[in-house]
Amino acid sequence: MAITFEKVNFSYGAGTTLAHAILHDVTVNMPSGQVTAIVGQTGSGKSTLVQHINGLLKPTQGRVVVDDFELTARTKEKQLMQLRQKVGIVFQFPENQLFANSVLEDVMYAPLNFGADKAAAQAAAETALRRVGVAEALWQKSPFELSGGQMRRVAMAGTLASDPSVVVLDEPAAGLDPKGQAELLELVLELKSLGKTVVFISHHMDHVVAVADQVVVMHDGRVVAKDTPAVLFNRDLDWFKKMKLDLPKAGQFAEKLMAAGMKLPERPLTLTQLATAINTEVGHE
Ligand SMILES: Nc1ncnc2c1ncn2[C@@H]1O[C@H](COP(=O)(O)OP(=O)(O)OP(=O)(O)O)[C@@H](O)[C@H]1O
Ligand SMILES: [Mg+2]
Repeated sequence: MAITFEKVNFSYGAGTTLAHAILHDVTVNMPSGQVTAIVGQTGSGKSTLVQHINGLLKPTQGRVVVDDFELTARTKEKQLMQLRQKVGIVFQFPENQLFANSVLEDVMYAPLNFGADKAAAQAAAETALRRVGVAEALWQKSPFELSGGQMRRVAMAGTLASDPSVVVLDEPAAGLDPKGQAELLELVLELKSLGKTVVFISHHMDHVVAVADQVVVMHDGRVVAKDTPAVLFNRDLDWFKKMKLDLPKAGQFAEKLMAAGMKLPERPLTLTQLATAINTEVGHE
């Protein structure tokens, strides 16, 4: 399911004296069945942008199209149910998303809300909890007794249980340990292999390289670049400084090698590419 933003402007408090313009003329598309990463310094508008994909926020001007659903300033609240069946979001602060008395009930909420009967909702919830790696011993606990990383997994299961075609993950790695982060990246690729469209906000450029088909860069509420990781991360170093963006670790290391005089044909994105580049270079001496 493709997502298109057309000339989207958004202000918090639009129409009031406190109006605060955040998104400026955002035109971008996120292709169906692909993983689009959104990066940019803190406060650049990433969370504000993605909250338009399920209509939690509506454009002040312009439109967002998700499959055949059009979202504008005039879209009515009751129409949004249709959009929310297509789009699942895991928020940046998942504790704000949890509410039920038990983990299992929490995850069953969306399928029940969208019309599944209790048995089907429970089956969907159990599948989703297993998929995100929440141990069965936690299913009857209160979601508020869990650790940050466990809460994030439960919030993710709650989103996946209703089987949305579009999955939006706002900084999903936050609060996860290295193993949890690796599992998360596998989950993103699994969602893609199931044909879902994934939107993935991250400050970890290595995660972006691991999963993204394209990368959207936000700066001061504008989209300033959209490229494949290979093209994006070969831009000029000064541009990254201006955008306050990191390179992937392998790229940072390669920059140090190049500063010390080693010649590399392009900036490697992964450790494997870095090792190959060094090996080729050393082999030539
Ligand atoms: N509910 C709100 N009311 C008013 N302003 C807001 C609100 N939420 C966010 N903002 C402002 O909108 C701007 C963009 O915030 P947003 O949360 O979209 O950034 P972000 O790129 O997701 O940042 P981070 O990487 O820190 O999560 C910031 O200036 C922020 O202060
Ligand atoms: Mg954010």
